[in-house]
Amino acid sequence: MTSVSIDLASQHCIESNCGAQYGLNEQLYVCPRCGGLLEIENESNVVADASALRSVWRARLASPDEKDRSGVWRYRELLPFSDDAPIVSLAEGNTPFYDAPRAAGYCRLNRLKLKHQGCNPTGSFKDTGMTTAVTQARILGAATVVCASTGNTAASLAAYAARAELKCAILVPRGQVSHGKLAQSLDYGAVVLEIDGNFDDAMRIIRELAEDESIYLVNSINPFRIEGQKTVAVELLQQCGWQAPDHVVLPGGNLGNSAAFGKGFKELFELGVIDRLPRLHVVQAKGAAPFAQLFARREQDSPAGNSSSTLTPIKHPQTLATAIKIGAPVSWKKALRAVTQTDGRVLSVSEQEIADAKAIVGRDGIGCEPASATTVAGIKRLVNDGVIDSDDRVVAVLTGHLLKDADYIINYHQNNLYTHDRASSKSKEERRIAGTFSNPPTRVKPTKTAILEHLNSHDSRHVEDRGHD
Ligand code: F0G
Repeated sequence: MTSVSIDLASQHCIESNCGAQYGLNEQLYVCPRCGGLLEIENESNVVADASALRSVWRARLASPDEKDRSGVWRYRELLPFSDDAPIVSLAEGNTPFYDAPRAAGYCRLNRLKLKHQGCNPTGSFKDTGMTTAVTQARILGAATVVCASTGNTAASLAAYAARAELKCAILVPRGQVSHGKLAQSLDYGAVVLEIDGNFDDAMRIIRELAEDESIYLVNSINPFRIEGQKTVAVELLQQCGWQAPDHVVLPGGNLGNSAAFGKGFKELFELGVIDRLPRLHVVQAKGAAPFAQLFARREQDSPAGNSSSTLTPIKHPQTLATAIKIGAPVSWKKALRAVTQTDGRVLSVSEQEIADAKAIVGRDGIGCEPASATTVAGIKRLVNDGVIDSDDRVVAVLTGHLLKDADYIINYHQNNLYTHDRASSKSKEERRIAGTFSNPPTRVKPTKTAILEHLNSHDSRHVEDRGHD
């Protein structure tokens, strides 16, 4: 199987009234002409053969070659890199595709599949895009790689930069990143810079910093990140036997992931690897839902034909799902295109819905971080609203590992989780997230009798509990 020739790949501006084209190795993040987002286009996709691709990708699952062990580079025909690119890899991807019967029942579905991106090397989906972005940094000869982050991008970049022996600086909102994620960045040796401000402030500052040529920005505004992340859609479809599911549901923050899934599905469809597109739905947390608000406005406007087309940023986004506490998502235009092209929906869910859905994913023995659980909460809503039928084939993408935010979990299970909505007049009690499915630890006397007594009483409570969900 010959790889796709990269001579034909280039960076394109996505704005239809611009469409400017740039070389692959021009160090750009947005279109210099109009400021639009850039995207990589690979003209040679159209000539590749779908069944040959499927068989080469199947064969590589059994190959010991380092490139083939990566769930990103295994699909290298779709990537804009030459065969001798200096790849920086931690064997990312290869993430499990689980049946989740308890979560399915909770959503009133016959079956629900969970694609667990939290099982990547640094515990989040960011690794699938970081392997390509840091490889590109090496190709460009960058001295320093940087990102702004709510925690996961930072942890991932820190790890890949360490592998590539590149200097790495990450900019994070002080006090708003979970300990697990911060600990990773420190351990991987990144320069950790904390600012007083939120993610959107950090993003603005880091973009200014990246105007300096020696600094390479690897947030998802960088189109090479999206190229790696789009392979998650490919791996998912391979795990589905190339039968596209009816719905794929993602959490939405900065919206790079939604953009990447949209690109992955579209490319596979155009190649003939799949014969239809799944509907792509994006779920945000209610206090940080500028994209859901835009979508709702468009739904209201559409009969008149003058759909709202601009996102209004939220100045002070609020959610305990800190990964997606974002008010001005950079990739909203790409994400909107993906959602509209696949007849998807964008919605938001409450803090209570997120917390309960998260606990249910845990009960399947799988677990995830809070932002990831927006998907299951969103699916429950979409089933209720009749958008998803109970026998549809549905996949929720879990983006981060359960241990990324242990404090949140301990607080939920001890009925000690509160929203941060301090600006409102709500009392502390009103801000409490109910531990609907809580499972608090119990202090017991260190005797066999006390422990057996407790286990017996716990057994009967557990049976009652099961009847409820
Ligand atoms: N889920 C998790 C666990 C995340 O860390 C993020 C984003 C998202 C979902 C949303 O993905 O931004 O592509 O829409 N985290 C970024 C970070 C912002 O800095 O780690 P998105």
